[in-house]
Amino acid sequence: MSSIGQTHDANSANPAVQQLAAQVNALPWHHQIDFGNGILSPGKAPISLFREQAEIYFRDIITGKSFLDIGCWDGFNSFEARRRGASRVLAADHFAWSDQCWGDRASFELARKHLAPEVEAIDIDLPDMTPDTVGRFDVVLFAGVFYHLRHPFLVLENIARLSKEWLIIETHMDAANVPQPAMIFYPTTELANDPTNWWGPNRACVEAMLRDVGFPHVEFTPNPQHPNRGIFRAKRQQ
Ligand SMILES: C[S@@+](CC[C@H](N)C(=O)[O-])C[C@H]1O[C@@H](n2cnc3c(N)ncnc32)[C@H](O)[C@@H]1O
Repeated sequence: MSSIGQTHDANSANPAVQQLAAQVNALPWHHQIDFGNGILSPGKAPISLFREQAEIYFRDIITGKSFLDIGCWDGFNSFEARRRGASRVLAADHFAWSDQCWGDRASFELARKHLAPEVEAIDIDLPDMTPDTVGRFDVVLFAGVFYHLRHPFLVLENIARLSKEWLIIETHMDAANVPQPAMIFYPTTELANDPTNWWGPNRACVEAMLRDVGFPHVEFTPNPQHPNRGIFRAKRQQ
């Protein structure tokens, strides 16, 4: 892969490739997404992170399954689930696609058009997500959202209803030295100087919350690139 947002020399004379590279570079990106022909969107973290996380989220469980990506932002995980054989993919977001955030739905739409037009999309806020509004899915991903919530248990109860089989949470974690299930509260900008970060749960807390909302089987994997983050793949009782 060439440097971010630029084309390989071999393709640089192709006007269509140059035009796409210009479109990609004109938009804001959270995800690094590979558009092919040497075009990589200039996201906030390396594509290696998103690929390593996706391998943990989807390994052995996504082929032939319906998939809901809650807080999809630019859609990396939605497109990756489809690439790995998900039968149906719904990408959902609101905050990152609204005026409240520097993100832009146009970035997701450009990637969808080029990578997987069959991926469905919905602009919907978390409290409005119910089985009636979005349906139920075999696999639900909730990556990078938990710690942004003012009322995480309320939201977890709500999104649990959207999953028929798997609920996958990726989150920032804290309170590692507390043996009981515990969460640290960040009243202002204590976490990463970001006022939208509210909570840091420990591993026991996330596992206990998942069990409480109907997912007794929980696999924990440390985040491959962040020591204070983790991935929980939780399965319903069959
Ligand atoms: C850190 S990004 C994670 C994006 C993607 N799921 C991933 O893992 O790469 C946080 C996502 O949570 C969504 N979100 C939902 N509710 C939010 C809230 N109240 N505050 C901040 N972000 C929120 C944002 O729109 C954004 O897509």
